[in-house]
Amino acid sequence: VARNNFHGRTTTIISFSDDETARRGFGPYTPGFRPVPFGDAAAAADAVDERTVAILIEPIQGEAGIIVPPDDYLPRLRELCNQRNVLLIADEIQAGLARTGRTFACEHWGVVPDVYLLGKALGGGVVPLSAVVADSDVLGVLHPGEHGSTFGGNPLAAAVGSTVVSMLRRGEYQTRSTELGRHLHNRLRGLIGHGVVAVRGLGLWAGVDIDPALGTGKHLSMKLAERGVLVKDTQGATLRFAPPLVVTAEEIDWAVDQFADALADSRP
Ligand SMILES: Cc1ncc(COP(=O)(O)O)c(C=O)c1O
Repeated sequence: VARNNFHGRTTTIISFSDDETARRGFGPYTPGFRPVPFGDAAAAADAVDERTVAILIEPIQGEAGIIVPPDDYLPRLRELCNQRNVLLIADEIQAGLARTGRTFACEHWGVVPDVYLLGKALGGGVVPLSAVVADSDVLGVLHPGEHGSTFGGNPLAAAVGSTVVSMLRRGEYQTRSTELGRHLHNRLRGLIGHGVVAVRGLGLWAGVDIDPALGTGKHLSMKLAERGVLVKDTQGATLRFAPPLVVTAEEIDWAVDQFADALADSRP
């Protein structure tokens, strides 16, 4: 697993989290995980031994601040997993389903993992739905009745998920995300030096580091909420812009204008 990951809040998952607010007071922790720096394929290779089952990563780390890895990272992990007979699991719960301009973020690097973890947009933003997707030689280890959940397989959520998959088949949202994402990133980069320190990300997904002199990310996200723009803060001084894929260029302009005004208002 990668350092600074975010894969959820169940006991096993928080066992390898670096986030003390998610870990503290919970447990006992599940042993056996080896956290190595995200983006460092050599460190991942060093951590693999004959007992390793899988490498689990977010292709672009979301909660960590929308961290895009070096271009050779995912291809090298894929090669490592092939050589050592280890599964590559891509958590695309935030990055997947057209958010970055491709159906899966892994496609930016031509990598197909063995397992995809999907959620969030899979439910169209209206119903809770998540999925573990893999070939039957992987998922076939589970048999009916061995695993389940009260809300798993909810018929309405499954119908919404199927519709989302059909909509993604058209490619329209991937194209929108690429083109409007370019616009969003250009506009946000225009604020560098005006309260913004750095802009990262791909498609309609941007991590924006703000000048700490203007206040915390939380403070700015609250100011933006008052102006009608919902942007989640993370890591103290980062804001995450993840507008719906149906957003228009005019709405992006309006939102970035609100952001510029909120930054100007926050100047000491
Ligand atoms: C990248 C990522 N992985 C996993 C999860 C956890 O998903 P769930 O809340 O369905 O356990 C989240 C939730 O925010 C997430 O963003």
